[in-house]
Amino acid sequence: MSDLWGGRFEGRPDPRVRRFTSSLELDRRIAAHDIRGSIAHARMLGRQAIIPTAEADAIVAELERLAAELAAGVWSLPVEAEDVHTAVEHELRSRIGEVGGKLHTARSRNDQVALGLRLLVLELLGELDGVVRRLATRLVEEAKDHVDTVLPGYTHLQRAQPVSLAHHLLAHVEALLRDRERIAEARRRAAVSPLGAAALAGSPYPVDPDGVAAELGLLSRFRNSIDAVSDRDFIVEFVFIAALVSVHASRFAEELVLWSSAEFGFVDLPDAVATGSSIMPQKKNPDVAELVRGRAGRAIGDLVAVLTTLKGLPLAYGSDLQEQRVPLYDAAQIAPALEVLALVVGGFRPEAMRRAAEGGMLTATDLADHLAKRGVPFREAHAVVGRLVAHLVPTGRTLSDLTLEELRRGHPGFEASALDEIRVERSLAARASPGGTAPVRVQEAIAAVTERLVR
Ligand code: ARG
Repeated sequence: MSDLWGGRFEGRPDPRVRRFTSSLELDRRIAAHDIRGSIAHARMLGRQAIIPTAEADAIVAELERLAAELAAGVWSLPVEAEDVHTAVEHELRSRIGEVGGKLHTARSRNDQVALGLRLLVLELLGELDGVVRRLATRLVEEAKDHVDTVLPGYTHLQRAQPVSLAHHLLAHVEALLRDRERIAEARRRAAVSPLGAAALAGSPYPVDPDGVAAELGLLSRFRNSIDAVSDRDFIVEFVFIAALVSVHASRFAEELVLWSSAEFGFVDLPDAVATGSSIMPQKKNPDVAELVRGRAGRAIGDLVAVLTTLKGLPLAYGSDLQEQRVPLYDAAQIAPALEVLALVVGGFRPEAMRRAAEGGMLTATDLADHLAKRGVPFREAHAVVGRLVAHLVPTGRTLSDLTLEELRRGHPGFEASALDEIRVERSLAARASPGGTAPVRVQEAIAAVTERLVR
């Protein structure tokens, strides 16, 4: 297959150079988008009388056929082509003759590939949004069943205060919903058509970039032709969002790994989502969660890769940009990982959580608050309860084992109601401040989040 640029050359490129410079394999994912862009471009050429309408129509009709054949697997990119742009133009010319050579009027592969990538990133953002939404929905469904399930909440991975399991799950949902907002914003910035920028300087033809953008369903066109072909910040944004989503998913995955261990015992992984060991018959491994955690590491590496490609690249286009496809595609692998992670949500063991919540003196703060509400400075109340705890620890007793007399020996300000306030249910219910873990607040949060998810 001949190249698009043979005229200036007398010799043919060395086959090794050819293989090295080819982007054909990387182009497969943008092929359909590339043809879509060519159709919009050819229509514009006809509309603006840059080429005769009949010729534009012939080009469009054949490109539409080609797009259908590509989708049906009847036509595929020939392996010997330099890139998708060459392959499509070559095929077009072989089908409709030399008039096919008019398609590339007022266009460069530089604005062409920028368009293909923008359309692809829009597709990937849509896909990512779908899986983030499904994972969040799954967490909300599970939260609905666990509003009253008491979980020891942790800070520094030390048992801290009782929380509702639903409240904990909804914390992950909040992060995912912010990711969805980021996706929506990134979509807006990606939906800008670069067609009409040509190689870098714009075009001497009466092109209509606005019309092309509208036909492609994009929000606007480029404002600066050099920027249009040289920046890939839309790729960086996608990879960043994918990395952040994966980091959010990874924190949940890490909890599943911890919680499914014998030491925690908070989760019993359903057989369908766990794996076994080839040597240790007793084992059940949280593979899915571990792989999600691992994939987050990959996505962070992908982000560094796409940023590094850009950092020293003088304007405008440079072939380095072609290399970004590898980390871009890799970062997109977060979507299937999240899809599987959604299957693993569940198997929670409320009794084990409750035992852990009751055993760890998690309501010590409530005891201090009891005194503080009765006028004792919180700092002093904190010290009083600290001494009570220190006194209990060596005996293996816990707060709920304390008698009113023991409390009063610690501080005369304790009233009988303190014994009730250190029950985990009371502790939960007491935290009814906005956004707190009290079941009434959590019910409201579930309703609010459900509404945001359908939007
Ligand atoms: N294969 C290139 C890429 O993926 C597109 C062609 C860019 N133009 C050029 N003159 N090499 O970025």
